[in-house]
Amino acid sequence: MTSFVAEPVHGTNPAAETAAGRPGEPSVIADQTDTIGKLPVGGHAGPPPAPSVDKSGDRVRGMFAEIAPRYDFANRLLSGGIDVLWRRTTVRRAPPPAAGAILDVCCGTGDLALTYAARAAADVRIVASDFCRPMLDRGAAKARRHGRPIEWVEADAMALPFAAAEFDLVTVAFGLRNIADTSRGLAEMARVTKSGGRLAILEFSLPRSAAIRAGYLWYFRNVLPRLGNAVARNGSDAYAYLNQSVEEFPSGERLAALVRAAGFESVEMMPLTFGIATLTIAARADASARGASHG
Ligand SMILES: C[S@@+](CC[C@H](N)C(=O)[O-])C[C@H]1O[C@@H](n2cnc3c(N)ncnc32)[C@H](O)[C@@H]1O
Repeated sequence: MTSFVAEPVHGTNPAAETAAGRPGEPSVIADQTDTIGKLPVGGHAGPPPAPSVDKSGDRVRGMFAEIAPRYDFANRLLSGGIDVLWRRTTVRRAPPPAAGAILDVCCGTGDLALTYAARAAADVRIVASDFCRPMLDRGAAKARRHGRPIEWVEADAMALPFAAAEFDLVTVAFGLRNIADTSRGLAEMARVTKSGGRLAILEFSLPRSAAIRAGYLWYFRNVLPRLGNAVARNGSDAYAYLNQSVEEFPSGERLAALVRAAGFESVEMMPLTFGIATLTIAARADASARGASHG
C-alpha cells in the first residue's frame, strides 16, 4: 500500500455548494439486461454472467493511466456536467457521518471524495483509494487547492489495506463496474464498513423507458466511443470499454442481490436522469447477527 496526504490549503469545493435535482423515490428497480435484447436476460438474483469485457487489472489500470490527464475534462464534456450533479446527489442521499471515517473506493481523480470533503465536519477522516497512481496523483493535486486533507491510498479494491469495520461510510462512483470481480470488491467494501454503516454506489445504468433507451444506446454505442476517445486522446479504446462494460454490468435486482450477498441490507436504488445512472445505497448488516442467523 502506498499512501500520502495532500497538503491542506484553504478554499471550498464549488462542486458541492448547490444541490442537484431530486431523483425518484428509492426502490429496487428492474434489471436493465431484461430488456436490452442482445444481453443475457437476468432480472433475478444469482451470480453475474462471466464478463466478456477484459477487466484485468493491468488493462484497466493502463487505460485509466492513459486518460488521467484529460479524465475530468472528458467527464464534464461528455456528460454536460451532469456527473457533478450526480456526485452531489450521492453526498446528499448518503451524507457524511457526523464523526468517524469515509472511504471512497476507485476514487480516480477524487471528485466524489472532494465533494464529501466540502460537506464533512473537519474531524471526519476521508480516505480515497484507487489502484491507478496517475489518477490518484491528479486527485491529490486537486485536493491541494481545497481546505481539507484527504488520505490518498494506492490499493486494489479487491484487497483493501484497511482494518475490518474501519469506516462509517464507503462509497464508489463509476468504479464498481470496473473491478474485475464485482463480488470480491463488494465483499471488501463490506469488510471495511462498520455494522450499521452505509455503502453508496453511483454507477452508470441504462434508461428504463424503451424509447429513451433506444436513443441513448445508439449514442452510447456509436457516438460516445469515438467522441470520448478523441477528447481523452486515448489509444486504448477506453470509451468503447465504457459502453461495453455498462451494458453488461448487473443492474436492478441483480445488483441489489450482489450487494445483499456481500453483507449489506436495506438496499435502495434511485435512478438518476432517466436512469442513465443509478445511486444504490445500503446499510452494512450486523456481522454477528448474520453469523448467528446463519447458524
Ligand atoms: C471511471 S473511474 C471513476 C473515478 C471516480 N470515482 C469518479 O467518480 O470519477 C474508475 C476508477 O476505478 C479504478 N479502478 C478500477 N478497478 C480498480 C480496482 N480493482 N482497484 C482499485 N481501483 C480500480 C480506476 O483506476 C479508475 O480510477
